[in-house]
Amino acid sequence: MGLKILLTGASGLVGGSFAPAANAAGHEIVGTVGRWPQPLPGLARQVALELQDEAAVRALVRDTQPDVIVNAAAISEPAQCDAEPEKAWRLNVALPAWLAQATGETGARLFHLSTEQVFDGTRAPYAVGDARRAINRYAQHKLEAEDRVLAAAPGRAVVLRLPLLMGNSPGGRRSVHERLLMLWADGKPAKLYLDEIRQTCTADSVAAALVELCSRPDLHGALHWAGAEPVSRLDIGRRVRAHFGLNDTQAPIIPVARRDDPAAQATRQADLSLNLAPLVQELITRPETFDEALAKLKRPAWWQAKS
Ligand SMILES: NC(=O)c1ccc[n+]([C@@H]2O[C@H](COP(=O)([O-])OP(=O)(O)OC[C@H]3O[C@@H](n4cnc5c(N)ncnc54)[C@H](OP(=O)(O)O)[C@@H]3O)[C@@H](O)[C@H]2O)c1
Repeated sequence: MGLKILLTGASGLVGGSFAPAANAAGHEIVGTVGRWPQPLPGLARQVALELQDEAAVRALVRDTQPDVIVNAAAISEPAQCDAEPEKAWRLNVALPAWLAQATGETGARLFHLSTEQVFDGTRAPYAVGDARRAINRYAQHKLEAEDRVLAAAPGRAVVLRLPLLMGNSPGGRRSVHERLLMLWADGKPAKLYLDEIRQTCTADSVAAALVELCSRPDLHGALHWAGAEPVSRLDIGRRVRAHFGLNDTQAPIIPVARRDDPAAQATRQADLSLNLAPLVQELITRPETFDEALAKLKRPAWWQAKS
């Protein structure tokens, strides 16, 4: 039976993949956007809402009476969290806490999206119960949100930790390959760490896992989803470049070493590979190989218009 799903951040990288996938699975999606101006696919209703406004958020949950809430809204850029720390805290910590509290009134389940960055990168691969240590403000926010969500909605909430994400976002400017293409379109080289390891997957893979989770009320607590294999940032860049048929002149890459960069060591985690147990044994959806993820990457509309 189709569920009523309230999706925050419908215009983001994950939200933009989740709504069409959940809609195709027979669910009805009410999605919030912030500044995104156009209708998005997969939504039964699109609501423009300032998610820093607690009263408005609680009213939307009350009015919608969802079976499931998927919180894909966030300030997901570490640099933006440092530039606007209070706003970032309201989106990354207060909002998930309000949503978790609201599930107590409606009985809804909550899927809150978290990050591999709650770990410090020194002891990969990380299992769900491993000690967390945040080394930047974004990670601190996400760690605090995990605790608040699980405390406020025990048995009803899933905190789904995700890796660095690839994929095709609604505006074409949010995922790893989209950001690389933006740099190259501006004539800039991409400086990529050869010793920074991520188990990236696409937002479509996350969406497939989330859709399956919607029909699994037996699963709750902290869980991990990611790709099938750890890859270095440098390899990600090189393989994205090859996927789009670009050469070194069109898409210059400068390999750099994190171990030679004290500033990077202070705020960027070395290896955030994830152990996907127990979720991977529970789902039919399989983690993507890097090549499977690459095959899904499209040229963003802005890039096609430029070339
Ligand atoms: N991207 C990654 O690599 C990655 C990796 C691990 C975990 N995650 C987590 O996955 C989740 C989804 O990330 P994402 O990459 O899909 O994020 P994203 O592309 O940056 O999208 C963020 C969403 O939040 C909305 N939003 C932000 N501020 C808002 C505000 N003040 N009021 C209303 N809406 C607001 C945006 O709306 P508008 O654009 O319409 O303004 C957008 O829909 C986040 O929890 C993130 O921490 C992401």
